[in-house]
Amino acid sequence: QNPELEALLQANEWSGKFYHFLLKNTEYGQSAMDYLKNRGIHERLIDQFGIGYAPARWDTLLQFLEKRSFDLAAMEKGGLLSAKNDGSGFVDRFRDRVIFPIHNRSGKVIAFAGRIMGDGQPKYLNSPESKLFSKSRTLYNLHQSKNEIRKKRQVVIFEGFGDVISAWDAGVHNTVATMGTALTESHAAILKSLADEALVCYDGDNAGQAAAMKSIPILEGAGFKVRIAMIGEGLDPDEYIRKYGGERFLHQIVEGAVSAVKFKLLYLRKNHILLEEAGKVAYIKEAMEVVAPLPSPTEREIYLKELSTDLQVSFESLKQECNQYRQELQ
Ligand code: CTP
Ligand code: MN
Ligand code: MN
Ligand code: MN
Ligand code: MN
Repeated sequence: QNPELEALLQANEWSGKFYHFLLKNTEYGQSAMDYLKNRGIHERLIDQFGIGYAPARWDTLLQFLEKRSFDLAAMEKGGLLSAKNDGSGFVDRFRDRVIFPIHNRSGKVIAFAGRIMGDGQPKYLNSPESKLFSKSRTLYNLHQSKNEIRKKRQVVIFEGFGDVISAWDAGVHNTVATMGTALTESHAAILKSLADEALVCYDGDNAGQAAAMKSIPILEGAGFKVRIAMIGEGLDPDEYIRKYGGERFLHQIVEGAVSAVKFKLLYLRKNHILLEEAGKVAYIKEAMEVVAPLPSPTEREIYLKELSTDLQVSFESLKQECNQYRQELQ
């Protein structure tokens, strides 16, 4: 047992409860309550996810921690406080932000993310990397979803807090968020111990789609069967659920998720002007790099037929092209 880590865990747990209390039971929390209500995050969700509020003052948490005799320098290292520039002491790190506690797999609070309520940077202020918190090895919501993931043998992977929370409200509980766009090998390894299928449900904007593309080899490398849920209109899952409801999210987006191969083809297709011959040829070349390595002949045939219809090119010529690629692969 490491006493410094134990103290930080204790401070995190109490701070999370304190922020939660300030949000729900004090005047300070009123604007944050309004903000959350506007986003459709109602009281049950606020409790389920332990959401809180850090007031717009410099010493709210500082005083709370001081009264409880925590070592303030250690609290600074753990990211609850910031050192003043002149070295004369500490101030609260999180000020005037909605607080999302981040738990480890066993449910201990290891970090916080604070969302600004208006526009401004950064949108989310996170705890720094510490002995307790490593973003590349942490999955938001895993402590609440691991049993459901194991039961379904499937995990739905989102980018952000709001996506997990809205999906939870819609009854989709086998979810985690990577808190940003980079899924790592550690994330994949952790999830593989619970599930066989990964359903990547990243934002519909370019950054989200590019991140989904990057996640495929990482997840496949860990042994997952991968499907990608695609959300149009540049919406993120949270916005989609708020706009169209949970039912439609489940039936259109989750059940309509496509195979990794299909997603790659659709993703590459967007970069080409298919009305021009050169564009078609360039797309076919990239598509072959995806289809040709597939070990199953029927699977190759299915995608080649789709390409044939889509591009108005004969199946025979596509098949020849594909076979040439396969010879080059040998
Ligand atoms: N993120 C972060 N720091 C930022 C921006 C984003 O840590 N400055 C993480 C957060 O976990 C966020 C996730 O990346 O939830 C996805 O980012 P983004 O899609 O930009 O944010 P949303 O989750 O959609 O945020 P919101 O709905 O609150 O606008
Ligand atoms: Mn509560
Ligand atoms: Mn995003
Ligand atoms: Mn988003
Ligand atoms: Mn969002």
